[in-house]
Amino acid sequence: MAFPNTSVITIERFIIEKERSYPEATGELSNLLYDIALGAKIIASAVRRAGLINIIGSAGAVNVQGEEQQQLDVFANDALKNSMSHTGRVCVMASEEEEEVIPIAEEIPHGKYAVLFDPLDGSSNIDNNNPVGTIFSIYRRKSMEGHGTLDDVLQPGRSQVAAGYVMYGSSVMLVYTTGQGVHGFTLDPTIGEFCLSHRDIRMPETGKYYSVNESYFGRWSRAMQRAVRGFHGDWPDRIQGKNSRYIGALVADFHRNLVSGGVFLYPGEVARPDGKLRLCYEASPLAFIAEQAGGAATDGQNPILDIVPRKLHQRTPLVIGSKNDVEFVAQVLREGSE
Ligand code: AHG
Ligand code: MN
Ligand code: MN
Repeated sequence: MAFPNTSVITIERFIIEKERSYPEATGELSNLLYDIALGAKIIASAVRRAGLINIIGSAGAVNVQGEEQQQLDVFANDALKNSMSHTGRVCVMASEEEEEVIPIAEEIPHGKYAVLFDPLDGSSNIDNNNPVGTIFSIYRRKSMEGHGTLDDVLQPGRSQVAAGYVMYGSSVMLVYTTGQGVHGFTLDPTIGEFCLSHRDIRMPETGKYYSVNESYFGRWSRAMQRAVRGFHGDWPDRIQGKNSRYIGALVADFHRNLVSGGVFLYPGEVARPDGKLRLCYEASPLAFIAEQAGGAATDGQNPILDIVPRKLHQRTPLVIGSKNDVEFVAQVLREGSE
């Protein structure tokens, strides 16, 4: 019989070992990452059982984005809030599922971090057993003490101290950065631990995939249409054609492109220039990861990480992935407006 490997590098061991190189570190951020990992394990177990226990389907409510809310969205939101709200490491939270910032109860100590999350990304995938994810973003608070404020969560992506995502796919993976490269952990369900499986992930500079919902082609600017035609292979002197992949869950599309190289686009439309995706808890955290892995992310004009959010649920166009491919799109968009 094959026994499990007893020298696996768990996420806990990895984070502690990284932290030793920072004598000033207090361990608070590491502990916050474990809190999130715990929330992720709870969500993973519910996602796995969703088809069995018949909790899939609409909760009958509509979230602040005006989208139909799935029951698992609500569950995932609660799981993350509960995994972080009692430990004294966080001063305020914000979620895709809640209109206002989420305060920490009076009687709990208020910590130094502000956390934003998309608890269940790609939630329409649940109904057909396709991958979904969780995205999180962590900032150091700006306010001095007591309850955190909206200002604590409305910081430019460049100020993030950590960001990551969890993908509930054929296996469950947690990928994060604290600004020292991007590292990936796979959940070993037999021991209930995230184990290091992808150390220091680097994104190929040019990707083989492009990911975009092409049913919206007719709604894009001419320049955006030209860029995507480039990916079709219509512009061989400028860019080589790519293979198309679109899962419809940002986390899953991003993850494939991170590991294998590629570019994901969710452009603005002529009639809806800001696109669909949210800056603070979708675009910014993934942009931090992309840059840390050697990739890039832009809204078409500016690096995503430089945008200063004005409101919590702000949307942004997003082009993210392999550096050369993101630069190609940005260049074509620039030419289009010249
Ligand atoms: P969420 O489920 O958190 O609302 O996010 C859904 C997002 C994102 O995951 C995905 O990339 C995109 O919606 C897909 O949108 P389209 O169906 O318009 O392609
Ligand atoms: Mn999402
Ligand atoms: Mn969501």
